[in-house]
Formats: sequence, C-alpha cells, structure tokens
Amino acid sequence: MQFRPIRNNTEMGADEQRQAFFGIDFGTTNSAVAMLRPGEEVRLARFSFRGEDISACRSVLYFEQWKTASGQRRVHGYSGPEGIERYLDADEKGRLIQSLKSHLSSRTLTGTEVFGRRHRLEELVTRMVSDLRKHAEEQFMQPVRRATVGRPVRFVGAESEEEDDFAVSRLREAFLAAGFDQVDFELEPVGAASAYEATLDREELILIGDFGGGTSDFSLLRVGPEVRRRGRRPEDMLGNSGVGLAGDAFDARIVRKLVSPALGSESEARSLNKILPAVPAWIYAHLERWHYLSFLRTNNVREILKSARIRALEPEKIEALIAVIEGDLGYQLHQAVQKVKFELSQSERAEFVFRDGPPGAAMVDLRIPVTRVQFESWIGEDLAAIEHSVDALLKGAGVEPQKVDRVFLTGGSSFVPAVRRIFTSRFGQERIRGGNEFTSVAQGLALRAAENCG
Ligand SMILES: Nc1ncnc2c1ncn2[C@@H]1O[C@H](COP(=O)(O)OP(=O)(O)OP(=O)(O)O)[C@@H](O)[C@H]1O
Ligand SMILES: [Mg+2]
Repeated sequence: MQFRPIRNNTEMGADEQRQAFFGIDFGTTNSAVAMLRPGEEVRLARFSFRGEDISACRSVLYFEQWKTASGQRRVHGYSGPEGIERYLDADEKGRLIQSLKSHLSSRTLTGTEVFGRRHRLEELVTRMVSDLRKHAEEQFMQPVRRATVGRPVRFVGAESEEEDDFAVSRLREAFLAAGFDQVDFELEPVGAASAYEATLDREELILIGDFGGGTSDFSLLRVGPEVRRRGRRPEDMLGNSGVGLAGDAFDARIVRKLVSPALGSESEARSLNKILPAVPAWIYAHLERWHYLSFLRTNNVREILKSARIRALEPEKIEALIAVIEGDLGYQLHQAVQKVKFELSQSERAEFVFRDGPPGAAMVDLRIPVTRVQFESWIGEDLAAIEHSVDALLKGAGVEPQKVDRVFLTGGSSFVPAVRRIFTSRFGQERIRGGNEFTSVAQGLALRAAENCG
C-alpha cells in the first residue's frame, strides 16, 4: 500500500481525535483492523483489491527491484493487496513474502535476504503493520497509536510457552517500531468470543474455534451481557488450547498428495542398473511452502533437473516441474491449490486445474480430479491433532460437551467440512454458530480494547 503523507496528531481536528479503541488481527493469511468509538458500532478498515472493496487485507509483502536512469539499483516494497497487484502485473517477478507470522516462534529463523539486503523478521512485520496502521489512520481520520492485538494460543512451530512468549515479544517489538505507543495482546479466540458475545442477550458457556491459515485456536469461556455488566471474573475463563496448524498445512498436503506427483515426486529414473527416485524429495518440500519456490531457481537445481529429465521414466513430469520453477509459478500454483480446496468445502468432487507456463516455453497443463474423501484422508493427521486439542481443553476444564451452550466457529479454515464435523459430532449441529470468518477476531479485539479501558 502506498499512502498520502500521514498528518500528525496535532493536525487532526477535534472531531477526528475522539476517543476510539482499536483491535488488530495480524493474521497469517489475512489481517484486519477494527475501530470502536463510544456509542457507535464497530467499524472495519476497508481495502481495495482489483477494484473490489474488502475488509481483510492479505498479509503479504512484495519487493521489486528496478534500475534508475543512471543504472543504480533500487528496491521498492509494497504490502497487502497492492503488493499482490504489483506482483501479478510484473513481467519480471520480484519477491513475494507471506505467512510471516508462522516464523515468529523460531529462534533460528532471524530474517531473510531480499535483493542482497538482509531483513530481520521483525523489520518485515513492522513494514506490514506500519502500512496497516497508516491505512487505518487515513480511513478512520483518527490517530492509531494504541491497539489490542491478537495472538494465537500456540504459535506455529512453538513447543513451549517460552517459545510463544518469544513470538509475542517479537510481535511487540515490530508493533512498537511501526509507530504504536502501546500494544495489549489478547488471545485471538478470546477476541472472537467478544464478537460473538455482542450478539447475545443472555449468558452462555461457549467454545470458540478459530481456524486460520497458520493456527487453530480454542477458548472455553462464559460470556453474555450479564457477565460484562458485573465484570469478568477469572472463573469465567475455563481454558484455552491451540495447535500450530490450519489452512497452510492443508494446502501443503494437497501439494504433496496431488500436485507433486503430477510433477514427478513419485517418478523413477534409471541409474546404471538401479531404479531410483528421479528428483530428490527436498525439491518437492519447497513446493509445499510455495513462497520458497523461488529459492529453487539456482544452477545446482537446474543441473539436478536436467539430468533427471534425461534419466526419468516419465520425463514429461520433470519437464513440467522445470517449467513451474523457471516460470516462478509458485503463487499461481498456490492459487490453484486454494481454489480446489475452496471447491471441496462446497462439493464432494472438484478438479484441480493449473494451466500456466514461463514465457516462450510449453504450458504446464494439469487437470486432476479430486474428491472430498481423498482430501480428508490427506489431512487426517491434522484433523486428529485438532480433535486432540479440543478434547484436551474440555477435559482440562472438566466440562462435558453437553454443558457447552454454543460453539462459535470462525476463521477461513472453519469452512472445511471435516473441521466442522469435529464439532457437530460432539455438540450437534443445532449448537453450532459461525460467521464473520475473516473479521470476527479484529471486531472482538476492538470491543476488548474498549472494555479494558473501562
Ligand atoms: N472456503 C474455504 N474453504 C477452505 N479453506 C478456506 C476457505 N476460505 C478460506 N480458507 C482458508 O482460510 C485460511 C485463512 O483464514 P484466516 O484469514 O481466518 O486466517 P488468518 O487469520 O490469516 O490466520 P491465523 O489466524 O492462523 O493467523 C487460508 O488458509 C485459506 O485457504
Ligand atoms: Mg486468524
């Protein structure tokens, strides 16, 4: 996003400086900003993508390099929908970075190099969050300096509370560097609980399930207008749990089981008298995290694939893999994966369709039928981990499923029927609620921000 210069606080009129509370959901895939002014409804910042008005901003950064008239190299960065638009429109693709949040708990991943310059992970998050903040200031005509920010119960890759705390400390650093004076963290499912609570006219014991791109998070708590009026008590919060996998993990399974085999992952090659895998498995592991695909454009990989194509029993599959890598088609491939996943949320059967290719080379043309049953078997381990997390929460709190009044499911991955089934089988369809899949967390965080300020 690029913005007009932001006016400082003193330039903003009295009306623009009215009291306001902000909730920010910095998501693995999508981010949202919500504002609550006393006496008003919660408002969401709006974004524009390809002319469409949306309330969820894709959590991406895009860097492109260009040469000035005097031959100097310059790098320009864009975030959110504008980043994706610039990427799609570019002939020579730059570097697209996404799912940054999934790396926050890792002490070994400190940053990445973009066009020869090293960026710390915190710096990249700062860039994204700073653009979000400025965009919200422009839209709301209101300084945005303090916010309640969501965090998952368990970050992707975190194996202890200490690793979660480390991820939160990195997020805090990034937000402060992005121009915030104060950041209060709240669990994302607790944010979603507040959004759901706003629709209630009586007290309920609720289970929240928030399924995003990176994490699946759960909270079990007592909510309602009466709870809010009398003031929340520690015993209203019965427990939280979470697991560091969700939509991105489902996508990776589709790549492994459906896409990679079409690009030769199960193909063999003749080597002397032996039959061996045509291409080493680590190359396909890069496909599963599509934004790493550009790292495969090296001479070493080119040599490996050239020789694999000659020896392979199915050379056309290796040919297709080469075209995907040389054409840097990771984003397009990922879009096709998402599309088939979305279709399987609607229908029992779908077709994976991918037709693209590098300029001047043969098209990669894949059409592979897939059923929901297949998809569900591929994500079986992930579903089991999610089930385990839900059951552990109930057990830890000593709550039988029949004591839960309602289950509120939110986040983009809550559309997956197998995910919903985990809850219908335990609680029955009539107790399940859902909605505002991409914005409930931010909306609820704004409500929480107001509540915490009395
Ligand atoms: N119809 C659908 N069917 C299946 N998955 C979907 C659907 N729509 C969106 N998704 C998935 O939802 C995920 C994004 O959801 P959401 O925006 O709630 O995540 P997030 O808040 O960015 O991530 P997190 O909460 O983990 O940080 C993506 O993995 C996307 O593929
Ligand atoms: Mg989320």
